[in-house]
Amino acid sequence: MGQHSNLSLLSSVVTVGSLLFGAYSTYQLLYCKSDEISKPKDGVEELIGNTQMVKIRSLSNATGAEIYAKLELGNPAGSAKDRVALNIIKMAEKRGDLVRGEPGWVFEGTSGSTGISIAMICNALGYRAHISLPDDTSLEKLALLESLGATVNKVKPASIVDPNQYVNAAKKACETLLRENEDGSVKGVFADQFENEANWRVHYETTGPEIYKQMEGRIDGFIAGCGTGGTISGVSKYLKEKANVSCKVVLADPQGSGFYNRINHGVMYDFVEKEGTRRRHQVDTIIEGIGLNRITKNFRKGETFIDSSIRVSDQQALDMAKYLSVNDGLFVGSSTAINAVAAVKLAKELGPGSRIVIIACDSGSRHLSKFWKEAREVNRDLTLEQAMH
Ligand SMILES: Cc1ncc(COP(=O)(O)O)c(C=O)c1O
Repeated sequence: MGQHSNLSLLSSVVTVGSLLFGAYSTYQLLYCKSDEISKPKDGVEELIGNTQMVKIRSLSNATGAEIYAKLELGNPAGSAKDRVALNIIKMAEKRGDLVRGEPGWVFEGTSGSTGISIAMICNALGYRAHISLPDDTSLEKLALLESLGATVNKVKPASIVDPNQYVNAAKKACETLLRENEDGSVKGVFADQFENEANWRVHYETTGPEIYKQMEGRIDGFIAGCGTGGTISGVSKYLKEKANVSCKVVLADPQGSGFYNRINHGVMYDFVEKEGTRRRHQVDTIIEGIGLNRITKNFRKGETFIDSSIRVSDQQALDMAKYLSVNDGLFVGSSTAINAVAAVKLAKELGPGSRIVIIACDSGSRHLSKFWKEAREVNRDLTLEQAMH
């Protein structure tokens, strides 16, 4: 009899336990959406945004600050530019310059990530991509664009005032297509990422709010580089103007770029310009995607929200990239490495306990033939102090 009541007690405990477990699982499934794996999406374009954030443990432990990377490299075409490319196309569709299901081309002049994002999204949405770029663009980027089926127009590297410079070449190609199809049977748009306001707006509407939510509103420092200026302008405008966060916004600038002096001293100038020699590239650095010597509409939009700029040398970026790879398993591109160097400097200024976010725009795999060809030679036992010199 005693044995029987013990057994029934045990079976009741098991039943109640499984009921509780079932209820907990249902609760998890229905209400704990943040921990849930996301539902299947309807197409590749829906995978853009909502990127992950990760703590950079090595830099956080060394500085006493909490340093986080917003992993824009997790977007489907591998960079933050997916957001921009999709928004540019959506805005063109709103204006009727592109129509889903009808022939349409997107033209852009870019040596970098934007072309790859445009090519991928055009494929997903049924459009064609036409990308003009300098003829010395890295082989992996060319191969990627060609593999995605984009029409690639290689031009000689030239200054922005030259009509054959790659951005001008893209605009011209778009105008030619529109002239040849005046009846509107084939549509076309020039993406114009430097001047197009769809660029900063998408960071204002998505990247900024995501960062704010992921950090639960507690952000003391935000760091990004500046190519078009879309990311730094959109995110800092959101954080400071809309969300009212009092954080320090820092523009991390590579050697040879003019933003450092523009932000800190009000003049767009780099000392290498005084040499008076014609340089092949506008900004002499191994870093790709950031640094410029002209003011763009997207930069101007957020300039008042940028508090200071930190200049980072190519060697510091190479060392930091290797350091993050070896110590954190973070294999990042050159602009992310620049941001990480600036983060260590900002952490020292803001002090222990401060919370800093950097943009991790793309992965190291985009940079194997140039930046990582040198970074891979850096000693893996390098200390953080050595990397910062
Ligand atoms: C790798 C990389 N990092 C950073 C940036 C800078 O972003 P933004 O153009 O928003 O200033 C770019 C821009 O092309 C880029 O390609």
